[in-house]
Amino acid sequence: MSDKEVDEHSGIETTGHSWDGIKELNNPLPRWWLIVFWVCVAWSIGYWVLMPSWPGISGYLKGTRNHSERANVEMAVADLDAQRADATRRLLTAPNMEAIENDPDLQAFALAAGESLFGDNCATCHGAGGQGFKGYPNLNDDDWLWGGKLEDIRQTIRYGIRSGHEDAHISLMQAYGSGGLLPRDTVDDLVHYVRSLSGQEHDAEAAARAAPAFEVQCVQCHGADGKGDQSQGAPNLTDPIWLYGGDAATIRETLWNGRGGVMPTWEGRLSEEEILALAVYVHSLGGGE
Ligand code: HEC
Ligand code: HEC
Repeated sequence: MSDKEVDEHSGIETTGHSWDGIKELNNPLPRWWLIVFWVCVAWSIGYWVLMPSWPGISGYLKGTRNHSERANVEMAVADLDAQRADATRRLLTAPNMEAIENDPDLQAFALAAGESLFGDNCATCHGAGGQGFKGYPNLNDDDWLWGGKLEDIRQTIRYGIRSGHEDAHISLMQAYGSGGLLPRDTVDDLVHYVRSLSGQEHDAEAAARAAPAFEVQCVQCHGADGKGDQSQGAPNLTDPIWLYGGDAATIRETLWNGRGGVMPTWEGRLSEEEILALAVYVHSLGGGE
């Protein structure tokens, strides 16, 4: 169209568009805008040539740089595996706990692996921080049923406790009452004897009556002084830390029905280095010996 209209106020040509009497001026695009526009076009062509771009039916246009995020991730994973393999080898060949503790990198590796394995496998029974519940021992204190040395902990985790594994810890607390091993009166008296060991309120006469029964029935596992025996998993009865409870009713229940907590075996379910990392982690929780 040749009959171009010029706006009478600005003297600039219009596009011919008009809305409610408002007319659009035909100004040129700003220079900066045009520059950015052409730079983008040039950049997109360069990108297209260099980098993977158009999808095709069987594959895609790879670009001259042959760039691949997938290959980069695979390389990073291979790198990490190599680093881990090295740390794992050093962990498994460490002669003892001191050797692991004296190597800060190795210790950090074991603790990180141990912590995450603990969350996945152990926290359901022992609590997220290993604080334990009734019947599930607290792993933070220095009171150990089966021993708190790294090797003891490793052994407990590997084979479990009354787990059915042939190398598991098996000794347990028999049902003295319901199993008919002791008369009711003696069991009742023993409750007072046990409470006397940890200095709790008790009937001294009843405790004295039970002393001979304790001597005959209990000393072989809990010791003459009641301090327990880690080789048999028999708890120390003289401290304020209880696996099941130190109140009279719970002690009576323990003596009457017996106890035998079960901790599963992890051999075969976790690898040797995972078990060792867990042992290092549990040992570090505060009470390791
Ligand atoms: C199904 C529940 C359960 C799970 C899961 C479990 N445990 Fe245990 N664990 C127990 C019980 C119960 C005991 C105490 C057994 C006893 O009465 O002697 C125990 C005892 C232990 C002990 C011995 C404590 C001591 O005082 O000697 C250690 C160490 C331990 N567990 C570590 C672990 C680790 C590490 C894991 C994870 C790999 C784990 N447990 C998973 C139930 C569990
Ligand atoms: C064969 C060894 C053995 C003998 C004998 C034995 N116990 Fe035990 N006792 C244990 C074991 C093992 C446990 C821990 C059970 C568990 O971990 O589930 C235990 C637990 C206990 C507990 C619970 C402690 C807590 O922290 O809650 C009490 C109380 C106790 N025994 C008292 C006695 C008394 C009293 C006798 C004698 C009548 C006795 N035991 C005889 C092995 C024995």
